[in-house]
Amino acid sequence: SVVPVIICGGAGSRLWPLSRENHPKPLIRLADGRSLIQHALLRALALPGARDVITVTNRELFFAIEDEYRQLGVDCGRRRFLLEPEGRNTAAAVAAACLEAAAALGGETVLCILPADHVIADVPALAEAVERAEKLARKGRIVTFGIKPDRPETGYGYIEADGTDVLRFVEKPDLETARQYLESGRFSWNSGMFCFQAQAMIQLMETLCPEILEGCRKSLDAAHRIDGPQDVERIELDAERFSKVPSNSIDYAVMEKAPNVSVVPCDVGWNDIGSWAALGEQYADDGQGNRTIGPVMAIGARGNVIHSSDRLIGVVGVEDLIVADTPDALLVTTKERAQEVRQLYDRLKREG
Ligand code: GDD
Ligand code: MG
Repeated sequence: SVVPVIICGGAGSRLWPLSRENHPKPLIRLADGRSLIQHALLRALALPGARDVITVTNRELFFAIEDEYRQLGVDCGRRRFLLEPEGRNTAAAVAAACLEAAAALGGETVLCILPADHVIADVPALAEAVERAEKLARKGRIVTFGIKPDRPETGYGYIEADGTDVLRFVEKPDLETARQYLESGRFSWNSGMFCFQAQAMIQLMETLCPEILEGCRKSLDAAHRIDGPQDVERIELDAERFSKVPSNSIDYAVMEKAPNVSVVPCDVGWNDIGSWAALGEQYADDGQGNRTIGPVMAIGARGNVIHSSDRLIGVVGVEDLIVADTPDALLVTTKERAQEVRQLYDRLKREG
């Protein structure tokens, strides 16, 4: 059995105006009406022998996320929320989850880290991959899930492997390197999901990033614990101690340096909903390559992503645009420059 750990942080700034400070990315709804965080919980519950789901997120999001979970109307069993006073990146989120799981459930507990902002089309295939991963994890391996790459994406980690043994893990290579990796055919993308025994990760962190581990240990020791109704435990990490934890990602802090990494290849319809172009792929195609959600009328238009929260959007004769309308903000850009929406978000945040 595995204990799923849903990690949820980050602003989702490239998905403005749909994601905002008070409406972050995990709350974005897909075409089926379910939010990303609801999908993450459904994935978690579909894993072999899933139990005791842990969610690591910002404390401001607790009520919103717990609401989303409840609205699914499924039995999610006992669940824990590890609540961060501020984001200290994924190494800290994973460290806190490992320490809590080891203390509450035992060091041999196999954890499966699931990022909240992915979409996985084939959940049964994921469950099968995790079953394979769990076997390797029980032997002390740190298991990654490899995705077949189709472009030289520089925002992902790359994994070179011999069978299931990982030879090299390279986080976010530059474009030239990413191109070489893609052409060599020897690399897969790191999906961002991981599977390992709590104690195996703790041991690694003791040598690879002891400050992060120690900081998280102190933050947990001084945490404020609230036993809620319906089997919900809220664990609020101590703000003063947690603010001192170095901020680094699990990929740089651990995965690039760990000697005992394995990879399970998986073909699960994985998609990192990182930009409007990627979110658009989740919407239905109108036959002309337009991906639309909400009331949209397109004439002689091709390849556009159009999101309407409410009013009718009409487009005529345009190509490869992104149009995203919400009650108080409208975005218009091109698919090509969709990554730059982050700059708009940052500037809005600065200038109010
Ligand atoms: N709780 C918590 N706290 N969660 C966090 C924090 C944090 O401070 N920071 C990020 N997360 C969550 C995000 O919500 C996301 O679900 C996941 O952790 C990964 O963080 P990202 O910031 O999205 O990482 P990335 O996309 O740059 O890179 C990672 O994912 C890629 C695949 O999507 C790496 O693992 C790459 O190697 C990988 O290819
Ligand atoms: Mg990401």
